[in-house]
Amino acid sequence: MLNRFQFTRLRPKARPQAPAPTRTPSRSQDQAPARVICVASGKGGTGKSIMASNLAITRARMGERVLLVDFDAGLANAHLLLGLAPDYDLGHVMEGRVSARDALVEGPLGMKLLSGGVGRDALVNPTRRELDRLFKALRPMEEMFDLIIIDHGAGLGYSTVAHLAATSTLILVTNHEVTALSDGYALYKRAMMVNRGMRVGLVVNRAPDERLAMAGRDRFCTAAQRFLGCQPEFIGWVPVDPEVGQSVQRRVPVTLGAPNSAAAKAIGKIAEWTPIDHARTTSAFYDKARKSLR
Ligand SMILES: Nc1ncnc2c1ncn2[C@@H]1O[C@H](COP(=O)(O)OP(=O)(O)OP(=O)(O)O)[C@@H](O)[C@H]1O
Ligand SMILES: [Mg+2]
Repeated sequence: MLNRFQFTRLRPKARPQAPAPTRTPSRSQDQAPARVICVASGKGGTGKSIMASNLAITRARMGERVLLVDFDAGLANAHLLLGLAPDYDLGHVMEGRVSARDALVEGPLGMKLLSGGVGRDALVNPTRRELDRLFKALRPMEEMFDLIIIDHGAGLGYSTVAHLAATSTLILVTNHEVTALSDGYALYKRAMMVNRGMRVGLVVNRAPDERLAMAGRDRFCTAAQRFLGCQPEFIGWVPVDPEVGQSVQRRVPVTLGAPNSAAAKAIGKIAEWTPIDHARTTSAFYDKARKSLR
């Protein structure tokens, strides 16, 4: 059912044989607009793109039509992690040179990527008007997919906050170190200011062991509860795993290339977080994001 959609511009590179689906496809029958989840962090390099790209693979394997939007606009690298070479990116879409549909590139297991582009100034600091135009152009994507996963750049940039204001579901990726926890807390605080109703799942990635992962979780959640009166749901931790580094070198996501590795198993569990199944907003996500710009 994935090939129900004939994209005009699909340039997949050779990919390794995909493991068989582990769950019966069902969501493509669902005519409701896509569920949308954001993957963000305060500090850079915590593992958002690894998380987002592998979540996309895992949910595609479950039978969903998945779109990964690389909104680390201007510093995109999800295409590298997936071994893809897109011709077009969000910058072309924002400029109106191609439609969002024509900018899609097909990745493993039929998931699609909308790349963020590399080194484009306009994408790094879009004006309100440009962002509005881009969100409008992305709106049709909600009718084409079951799940849209948005991989953000680090920090509290204007476009990240606009997404946070609209989303119902955020996966916040941190590491166990105090710097990552502190920046993650700042992002969580901002998220709660613009959209207190959202579900937030906390992931401690690249932890040396469970004890340090849990210590990081406790530190984060205790501070959030104390100063904000709420805390994210802890949805899992991912160990430091050399297979992740190797997967980056090979440009094959770890959940595909090393599905039995500790990191792949941990990400597989995170992909089953129930709010991902219910990540719908009351109105269309991109309409809501546009409203947040006004
Ligand atoms: N669980 C892990 N085990 C080992 N290495 C990891 C793990 N997670 C991430 N890494 C390493 O960290 C690097 C950075 O990860 P990634 O690009 O996903 O971070 P990011 O948060 O998206 O960064 P940026 O803020 O620049 O977008 C990866 O290239 C990978 O080598
Ligand atoms: Mg990234």
